[in-house]
Amino acid sequence: MTIKLLGAVSGMAIIASSAAFADGHAAPEAEVLHYWTSGGEARSVAVLQEEFAANGGTWTDMPVAGGGGDAAGTALRARVLAGNAPTAAQIKGPAIQEWYEEGVLADISEVAEANNWSGILPEAIAGHMQCDGTWCAAPVNVHRVDWIWANAEVLEANGIEMPTTWDEFNAAAETLQAAGVIPLAHGGQAWQDATVFEAVALGILGADGFRKAFVELDMDTIKSDDMIAVFDQMRTMRGYVDDNFSGRDWNLATAMVMNGEAAFQIMGDWAKGEFMAAGKVPGEDFLCLSTPGDGFLYNVDSFAMFAVDGDDKQAGQALLAELVVGESFQEVFNLNKGSIPVRTDVALDNFDSCATLSADDMAASNEGGSLLPSYAHGMALRGAQAGAITDTVTAHFNSDMSSEDAVQMLADAIANSL
Ligand code: BGC
Repeated sequence: MTIKLLGAVSGMAIIASSAAFADGHAAPEAEVLHYWTSGGEARSVAVLQEEFAANGGTWTDMPVAGGGGDAAGTALRARVLAGNAPTAAQIKGPAIQEWYEEGVLADISEVAEANNWSGILPEAIAGHMQCDGTWCAAPVNVHRVDWIWANAEVLEANGIEMPTTWDEFNAAAETLQAAGVIPLAHGGQAWQDATVFEAVALGILGADGFRKAFVELDMDTIKSDDMIAVFDQMRTMRGYVDDNFSGRDWNLATAMVMNGEAAFQIMGDWAKGEFMAAGKVPGEDFLCLSTPGDGFLYNVDSFAMFAVDGDDKQAGQALLAELVVGESFQEVFNLNKGSIPVRTDVALDNFDSCATLSADDMAASNEGGSLLPSYAHGMALRGAQAGAITDTVTAHFNSDMSSEDAVQMLADAIANSL
């Protein structure tokens, strides 16, 4: 159930900070809950705030720090339960449907239809934004999760190429470690462990195995020898992380790659936003390549609007929805964020080689059936199942648990979460 949002906002007057425009329309207002607080993220959300203001909107920022959005999710739930939902919140994947089922989302179909979202968004992505045939969220971008980032100078100094197999990765890591470089910059937070895990899983299980395990929750795949091999590789990689990794934020891990303290980071392309914000140049200062194996793990940021009273807030929701899918925003925001536009009709001329690689691989994966939703970033599974997997991954990574025990724990945790 959704509350219908009325009033398309195209052509809205440029200046307005009072309660209504000269023509009597309410001036748009939005309180926006999001978790874009790192350097690159803050630059990106500023693009939206500026466009919102330039269209007469008043933006109230509600940032909740914490990579991956766990803390933001908790803050959002508390607000909604207290009957004080924000006008818009950064939520994505199946969580959109979960909120919709609680009857608290606004219906943004009018904006979506007026702006032909079904004509300009890839079908799979449009599906995430629709609830029972209505539009319930506005997509912002396509982040790829299965990336490996590297410090170009460190690799060159150690005679290392970007690894294309996990064995090559391990061999490179051993060389780096012997040379006194931290091979893998990592922050010990559960969502970061999950991010590395799903990249390793995609490489070792293959695209079909990944889909069976983390989209379909197929128990044979979850309990397979290949899954044991995934945990074996995680154990090996634990040895490539420095001793101070516990609790480290992801952007601080990216900074370790930037300053040459560490060689690699496995992280989604929001890490590229950090490199760019620091003035680093892809192909020169840092390198990007998909993690070993075929496939593409997508992670689409989006905003859902909550059912709130007030013409000003509803105008704010309509304006926000229209802007984020708008062509100019899609280009400028994604240049800063490290992601690629979600619209298929935005030219990539101004984007760098990592972005074009992402777009090419996404198209090829789509054709080849290996375009897959990220489980670690809330695109593949509902919260309970994703949480059960992540609990296991992080328990294994932070202990001396055997791979066999981890697989058993994984199977039990998933079964208990259903
Ligand atoms: C989000 C990104 C964000 C990253 C780090 C991901 O789940 O999709 O937009 O930059 O987490 O917070």
